[in-house]
Amino acid sequence: HVSGSSAYAEVSTRKKTFAEVQTERLDQAERTVLIKCPSKLNEKKLLQYLSSHGDVKSHFFFENRGINALIEFSEKGSIASLQDAVGIPSASEHHVVPFKSRLFTFTLKNPVSQRGEEAPLHLSPQCHIPVKDLIEKLCLADSISSQMYILLDEHQLTEENIRLRFLACSLVRDFTCAYFPDSTVKPFGSSVNTFGKLGSDVDMFLDFGDTEKHATKMKKGPFEMEYQMKRLPSERLATQRILSVIGDCLDNFGPGCVNVQKILNARCPLVKFSHQPTGFQCDLSVSNSIAIRSSELLYIYGCLDSRVRALVFTIRCWARVHGLTNSAPGTWITNFSLTMMVMFFLQRRSPPIIPTLDQLKGLADEKDKHIIGGYDCSFVSDLRKIKPTKNTETLDVLLSEFFEYFGNFDFRKNSINLRKGKEVNKPESSPLYIWNPFEQDLNISKNVNQPQLEKFIAMARESAWILQKEDKTQQMIDKEPWGLAALLIPFGKSNSSKMKNRMKGIGSETIRSLLDSLKLNNANSQQKAVGK
Ligand code: CTP
Ligand code: MG
Repeated sequence: HVSGSSAYAEVSTRKKTFAEVQTERLDQAERTVLIKCPSKLNEKKLLQYLSSHGDVKSHFFFENRGINALIEFSEKGSIASLQDAVGIPSASEHHVVPFKSRLFTFTLKNPVSQRGEEAPLHLSPQCHIPVKDLIEKLCLADSISSQMYILLDEHQLTEENIRLRFLACSLVRDFTCAYFPDSTVKPFGSSVNTFGKLGSDVDMFLDFGDTEKHATKMKKGPFEMEYQMKRLPSERLATQRILSVIGDCLDNFGPGCVNVQKILNARCPLVKFSHQPTGFQCDLSVSNSIAIRSSELLYIYGCLDSRVRALVFTIRCWARVHGLTNSAPGTWITNFSLTMMVMFFLQRRSPPIIPTLDQLKGLADEKDKHIIGGYDCSFVSDLRKIKPTKNTETLDVLLSEFFEYFGNFDFRKNSINLRKGKEVNKPESSPLYIWNPFEQDLNISKNVNQPQLEKFIAMARESAWILQKEDKTQQMIDKEPWGLAALLIPFGKSNSSKMKNRMKGIGSETIRSLLDSLKLNNANSQQKAVGK
């Protein structure tokens, strides 16, 4: 049985390289099936039935338009045996497309006689609690640090959710393999970079294997043989054609693949779809090596020190509550940019909590070498080679320092560079400039406009001020949200008498920044009014 605790994922994946985790998870997903179950289910009987096809290594249940079971077999062959034994739905009302997937429906032939004695199923949650409930939980903690770990624990991906994400990729792979037998479909982005939140999309990419390695192998000996392949004027065109066909396949034949949208003219062409059986919104693109390197870099940072993920999840949740981020694309800061800002802040601590990218590159060995499109994207993959930090600051301190730091950052002049771990002069005039760590002339936050940046600065200042002025004991006595809980309530909602209390005894420095932030708020609303 899979342990319900998310700590399981951490223990089993700690110290493993990114590539090792990916390989293990993809292999596991290939041995996995998903079964829709009746609401009254005898768990033992289901497992008994399945074990006639092979050893069931692990399983769990979850709710998603009814009860579902994810079943991991020990051997891949068991799935073929199961597929041989299952029937095809009768075509009374609908005609079925005869694509045989690893998604099944389990029904009881005689539900009445079998009902009654079943023990209730344990259902593993696939989404996080609402912010309102989170705030209540946070109020019971004893420090801001523990509040931040509670938030992390509530929001992070669980072992079960990670398995479902890899299964979704593996099910898409069943289609891509029909055309390209060597292809794989792998998750990237927040599903694998240790910063994924329950409920976030699954970013997946189609990979055609290591074609370069293949080529050198074939060149040994006195002959040379190569495939005859269709030639197209550009890589982009090839990508668009492949994605177009795979998108059509998912749309026409994929069980539970709905709302398939081909967005082929984007800078990075992709197919968007909802995968109903797993409940995920998915973005499928074709292998983007640089995005995968960023995923691995963030994975390394996330594994190095427990404070890293706690701070990132906290900042992301804070940003969402205050409308600084939004699930729709637009001029606001993305979660990815926010994560990079937190990483940069952690590099700037003294002593630093995480190393710079150049330092990680210095630790790289021959097998870590990656040159992509002329850019050196090498960095160490073995986590054991990175010395732990000597920094012992608590998360209480780091949280308010984060708000102080970015509340006073000179965004007009400086840009954020994780490779150097230093503020450097902005190369162009985008309001917020965060260097893509691997493509040195790309700004990952190019979409952010001045009002959005100003809103971020104002919220950071307000938050720094709230943390600074807090009287935790008094707030607990008054049963008021304190610490992180107070930061997760939209600021406009605090009443004026509370404001007056807050104003007592604050230094001129704070008042100045408060006035600044009010000015910014004003500028913001004026801008909005003009926009109307
Ligand atoms: N990416 C990038 N440059 C950008 C945006 C995205 O390199 N300007 C890459 C990153 O590797 C990122 C991945 O694409 O992790 C997926 O992007 P996105 O889904 O926007 O971010 P996530 O990190 O997955 O965060 P979220 O949980 O918000 O989806
Ligand atoms: Mg994503």
